[in-house]
Amino acid sequence: MKHQIFSSLNQGKLNLENRLAVAPMTRNSAETSGEPNDLMAAYYENFAIGGFGMIISEGTYTDDHFSRCNPNQPGIVNKGQVSAWKKITYRVKKHGALFICQLMHAGSLSEMLEQTISASPFQPQGERNTGSGGKPGPYPVPLEMSNEDLEKTTEGFVLAAQHAKEAGFDGVEIHAANGYLLDQFLTGYSNFRTDNYGGRMANRFRLIAAIIDGIRERTGADFIIGLRLSESKVNNLPYRLPGGPQTATEILEEAAKTQLDYIHIAAEGGNWARECLYEDGSSFSGIARQITGLPVIANGGMHDLHKAEQLLSEGHGDILALGRAALADPSWPNKILAGEKPLAFHKSMIQPYLTIRHSNSVISSL
Ligand SMILES: Cc1cc2nc3c(=O)[nH]c(=O)nc-3n(C[C@H](O)[C@H](O)[C@H](O)COP(=O)(O)O)c2cc1C
Repeated sequence: MKHQIFSSLNQGKLNLENRLAVAPMTRNSAETSGEPNDLMAAYYENFAIGGFGMIISEGTYTDDHFSRCNPNQPGIVNKGQVSAWKKITYRVKKHGALFICQLMHAGSLSEMLEQTISASPFQPQGERNTGSGGKPGPYPVPLEMSNEDLEKTTEGFVLAAQHAKEAGFDGVEIHAANGYLLDQFLTGYSNFRTDNYGGRMANRFRLIAAIIDGIRERTGADFIIGLRLSESKVNNLPYRLPGGPQTATEILEEAAKTQLDYIHIAAEGGNWARECLYEDGSSFSGIARQITGLPVIANGGMHDLHKAEQLLSEGHGDILALGRAALADPSWPNKILAGEKPLAFHKSMIQPYLTIRHSNSVISSL
């Protein structure tokens, strides 16, 4: 019997051959100029050859102001970077996969900047990740973003999305998950502003909404815009939304007011049930489906076929994003389809990304 994960999806702007997406994964393998290179082209093309219907790029920085996370992170802010991405999108898209660029602003979790910015001046938990070229020691306390910072950051995302379109991506995914800048606005302990960007959810969501509006206005109706959200954070994996499903509902009601095309709910620690499921049987990803009516990507240990099929049939998601399993074997979909065993994952494959931040972590082993 053909697994449900191999059924096609045609919903809104998402026309996918199957339900399998590559989760966004930082690889720290771009040039220090932020230009992606041939190594990355081969890395991304292999997923398309291997049968994934959708590929989401690693978190890509959006401006030269304060967005950058790592020295070898790719950017999409200038002509050189755009033309380098063009070569990659060409190689991926000729195999038919949908290719989305994840737009990321690190906020207070930049591994490299001396000075960072965020919603409020709070001390981030954990230490910088020296393994990815970061500076050792605690993260600096960020400066509270001024109105000018808010404008520059919004414009950075919007321009980056325009560049992504020019580079041949089918769309962008706004990274508002895992503890980075936009998640810092959504989260109480990192946002104690008393202006229009703090307090009630509509305020905490305001920057994300402005970014989505700006991107839609400048990239047109056909360009795909997704939003990635999560409960856990890279430097605080056990974190859960205070208020559980009620808070999830509040966030998603704000998301539903914007012109998004899909929602992606991440379980960074690799365990969807632990990070997305609530005691009453509802889930962050299921609530996203109900409230927005949009296609929803679920994530976290979805290489477990039984769990993946169950999640789809119980209505907790429409698409499954695979992180570690895709890293271990870019031909994961084709192998499963052929009844073969995909290559096994080894922890060294995620180094150096997880070295320090996840030292106390509860990340699942595959
Ligand atoms: C090496 C590595 C890099 C990652 N980089 C990103 C990233 O750039 N953006 C993001 O949203 N999530 C990132 N993540 C989180 C993954 O997208 C995913 O949520 C996590 O691996 C759990 O999925 P899995 O159980 O299928 O591995 C990264 C994870 C790994 C292992």
